[in-house]
Amino acid sequence: MVMHKNKRILIGVTGGIAAYKVPHLVRQLKERGAEVRVVMSGSAQEFVTPMTLQAVSGLPVSLNLLDVEAESGMGHIELARWADVVLVAPATANFMAKIASGFADDLLSTLILATEAPLIIAPAMNQQMWQHPATQENLSILESRGVKVLGPADGLQACGEIGPGRMVEPEIIAQTILSQNTEDESHCDLLSGVNVVVTAGPTWEAIDPVRGITNHSSGKMGYALAAAARHSGANVTLVSGPVHLPTPSGVNKIAVSSAKQMLEAVLGCVSDTEIFIGVAAVADYRPVQTRDQKIKKSGDTMSIELVKNPDILASVAACPEKPFTVGFAAETENILEHARKKRIAKSVDMIAANNVAGREGAFGNQKNAVTLITKDAEIEIALMDKYDLAMEMIRCIKQEYEKTRLLV
Ligand code: C5P
Repeated sequence: MVMHKNKRILIGVTGGIAAYKVPHLVRQLKERGAEVRVVMSGSAQEFVTPMTLQAVSGLPVSLNLLDVEAESGMGHIELARWADVVLVAPATANFMAKIASGFADDLLSTLILATEAPLIIAPAMNQQMWQHPATQENLSILESRGVKVLGPADGLQACGEIGPGRMVEPEIIAQTILSQNTEDESHCDLLSGVNVVVTAGPTWEAIDPVRGITNHSSGKMGYALAAAARHSGANVTLVSGPVHLPTPSGVNKIAVSSAKQMLEAVLGCVSDTEIFIGVAAVADYRPVQTRDQKIKKSGDTMSIELVKNPDILASVAACPEKPFTVGFAAETENILEHARKKRIAKSVDMIAANNVAGREGAFGNQKNAVTLITKDAEIEIALMDKYDLAMEMIRCIKQEYEKTRLLV
């Protein structure tokens, strides 16, 4: 487990419904070794109580700017100096407007002006509010000042609408923030200057303009590997299918939709690639024909003819100057046996055998366990957080990659 000692994270909670997820966020950060203090706006207290956040953080929660007691203890300047990172989650449209304009009319906005710590915000609001030009202008102002913005994610909102505006999930926020801290502090040079390409997420094989074939891949494992490779000094290109994850910092992301697009993007950079890690859950088949117009309902049954997709991993492994290739074998039974066969069938250097059966299965979970299989070794990595697992995998990949270079 990568521990993040002395990582003091000040969470500012503002008044959106996503505030109900903040106790979980605090726990996620604390489990990863961070120290957390919470500052709440007045309206945030309508959604989650200071008592709850005090209990999960284990430290007093700060509420008011002009509080005689607070100013003698952890006042705004002390809090501003204490924090290694200030995270506002959820950040409402109102609060974004406030800090874009430099207001200091409550404890949180005041300490944001007073701190030298980096500021990260996780916006959450109704999708119309997010897309409003005023909010988008405030967003540009904040980004131009170096504020890091996580999300928002797309999906069903508390108000019943669908669109961008959901707060990024607490696990992802915790992982992103702490991996960034790790980057500053314990950036290692395991893969310094090495070009790494990672594929991640599902693919979307369109049937017509509104329907398609896809799967439940969350992209978490691929994104964690891209982040871990980056933190190890690699130049990372992440070829990603549609997911709701923020791009790890310093990673060059190429967003694609279908398997054919993913293959094209990968082949476009493979000649400069030293390590290729195929994590994407690529659809095995796609519709022979994608209709230009929405298909109308007609008979009681209908058939869609499918054709096999190209195998991206096998195509990379078949390149004349192939990079060191790593694939995943997601299996539900006879895991190692199937994975060994898959490694040979696709001619890849290493395969990560992955049990996706049952509750502990990898899909969408924050944790994962794998067995790394090469031609002469099998290395088991126990169940752990996907980012920590990714770091372990990068160490093993580096060792095996070095061996193949010595043979050249
Ligand atoms: O054959 P299977 O889908 O089980 O193989 C899984 C591995 O192959 C993963 O590494 C996945 O990213 C890769 N793959 C691919 N292109 C496909 C199918 C799988 O790159 N069309």
